[in-house]
Amino acid sequence: MAVIGIMSAMHEELAAVLSAMPDEQRLQVAGRDFWVGHWQGHSVVAVLSRIGKVAAATTATVLLERFGVDTLVFTGVAGGLGSGVRVGDVVVADGLVQHDMDASPLFPRHEVPLYGRARFEADAKLAVQLAQASEQVLADAALHLGPSTLAEFQLNTPRVHRGLILSGDRFVSTSAESHALRQALPEALAVEMEGAAVAQVCHDYGVPFAAVRTISDRADDTAHTDFQRFIREVASSYSLAIVSQWLRQRALD
Ligand code: ADE
Repeated sequence: MAVIGIMSAMHEELAAVLSAMPDEQRLQVAGRDFWVGHWQGHSVVAVLSRIGKVAAATTATVLLERFGVDTLVFTGVAGGLGSGVRVGDVVVADGLVQHDMDASPLFPRHEVPLYGRARFEADAKLAVQLAQASEQVLADAALHLGPSTLAEFQLNTPRVHRGLILSGDRFVSTSAESHALRQALPEALAVEMEGAAVAQVCHDYGVPFAAVRTISDRADDTAHTDFQRFIREVASSYSLAIVSQWLRQRALD
């Protein structure tokens, strides 16, 4: 049976996932808690990714090596970079780039040395499935969040985007930095701190990978506003509903 790994970036998201797994058992490896169980009839291992590229890469490697995960999905939040990518929207990665990788002049900027590439692709089929699940959840956003949360965070007609996600070991919280990222990588829709590293690990192991991120801020001078509350009240509900919808659909396929 396939084993699906679910990496959550935030405690609140993981808690939401665990509340949906009736039989989870905790196993500790490398100082991390891995939760092994079932969800919607699938074998699932859920874990907190930890923050930053190296920590997330270690977590991903353990999932693949020790838990035999053969499909890996990452959920979390990200800062919006693309025009029209607003707080409360969802971005599903088509590809991921480490924006802080720079071994120039030995290698072109952003290229990961010895891989001959800067960009790691998400699995196309998984990305389509997750985008469909996200569309379904956002179409019913009021159902998942409640009208008062929608109003409070001013989430009007949230949208699903697909495209490039950037990762780096920085929380981007100035307009100057997000402007520089847009200049360097104009296609980028969103920025976070783990996805491209996990995509690289999955590439190494030949395991399909996908990432879904809810936009929590615009990676600018206002990026700190109500971050924790947004994760608790919006992003965790979205992640739970999107992954749940995806698993339900997958069981039918
Ligand atoms: N995750 C959520 N918002 C982010 C930001 N602005 N920069 C990096 N990671 C993030």
